[in-house]
Amino acid sequence: MKTRKIGELTVSEVGMGCMAFSHGYGKIPNEGYSIEAIRNAYGHGCTFFDTAEIYSPGLSGTGHNERIVGKALHDVREHVVLATKLFLERPQIRNGDSVYYAVRQHLEASMERLQTDMVDLYYLHRMGGVPIEEVAEAMGLLMEDGLIRGWGLSQVDVDVIDRAQQITPLTAIQNIYSMVERDMEAEVIPYCLEHHIGVVPFSPIASGLLSGKITTKTKFERYDDVRNWVPQLSRANIVGNQPIIDLLKEFADKKHATSAQISLAWMLHKYSNVVPIPGSKNKGRIIENLDASEVELTEEEFQSLEERLNQCRVYGHRGFSR
Ligand SMILES: NC(=O)c1ccc[n+]([C@@H]2O[C@H](COP(=O)([O-])OP(=O)(O)OC[C@H]3O[C@@H](n4cnc5c(N)ncnc54)[C@H](OP(=O)(O)O)[C@@H]3O)[C@@H](O)[C@H]2O)c1
Repeated sequence: MKTRKIGELTVSEVGMGCMAFSHGYGKIPNEGYSIEAIRNAYGHGCTFFDTAEIYSPGLSGTGHNERIVGKALHDVREHVVLATKLFLERPQIRNGDSVYYAVRQHLEASMERLQTDMVDLYYLHRMGGVPIEEVAEAMGLLMEDGLIRGWGLSQVDVDVIDRAQQITPLTAIQNIYSMVERDMEAEVIPYCLEHHIGVVPFSPIASGLLSGKITTKTKFERYDDVRNWVPQLSRANIVGNQPIIDLLKEFADKKHATSAQISLAWMLHKYSNVVPIPGSKNKGRIIENLDASEVELTEEEFQSLEERLNQCRVYGHRGFSR
């Protein structure tokens, strides 16, 4: 698979979001299936895997997903880029402890679960009331320790990014981004391009909407399924967004590709620093999404898709500022 640079890291052009093996999209597969799915993705050329300490069934407990990723990739560790994330809230930092100490505690626990002595890309998952400058300084120290190769932030605006960047240059920003969620285009992506920071879109297929497989009749699962509250997946918004789904289908048919692949190819064409991490717990669709790297839009095709997308109103929104 083609590769891209995010910061100093070289990764496959499409990465793999591993969250759904533990949380977020209903019933989780058994561990054996998840491990095989991750290994298949590696076998298909994927070298960029995304997890987080918090991804566990029902978000209760810690590390379910990191353990699966660690088991799946242990044998090929030196050939892959592992990204994980920590939550850090002010009350967690006891009097007298430094932010560095607190972050390092989280990192060491993640490294143990991931069966590694170094994390390639370590993100702060959300702003948790700890000054970003202190987090940036701690991340810089962890790089000096050789415990992480790069660091990133998730769901942040350009002001936070800039304050962090002044202290310890960032490797990547992981915000929500897709054809129906384009807040990042205004300021964050231009800033990242200028400062050689990678952009790692999460939910790049809009939680499945852009695949065209979700209709008003689709029933989501009752337990631990974010699709019950993702605004774009309310019945009214599925109907409202149908012109975008139809547009993708038209291009998919023309390019002998799938709608999900076209939605990923669109962002890959648009920005050189973007590496999406689609998520799926289905072995076939994981490979389908990785193969978006093979779907090349010509400049003319891209411009036509972009112009027609710009004419569509988007129904439902959950960008980083809302
Ligand atoms: N930083 C953050 O705050 C944050 C938040 C959310 C997620 N993430 C990360 O980003 C990754 C991706 O996010 P996401 O899982 O929301 O992304 P997504 O790929 O936009 O949405 C996943 C949903 O789309 C469906 N889907 C994916 N590919 C499909 C295809 N080709 N055809 C039909 N349906 C398809 C999946 O169903 P099936 O499983 O049935 O295929 C699943 O229901 C996560 O795994 C996680 O690592 C980070």
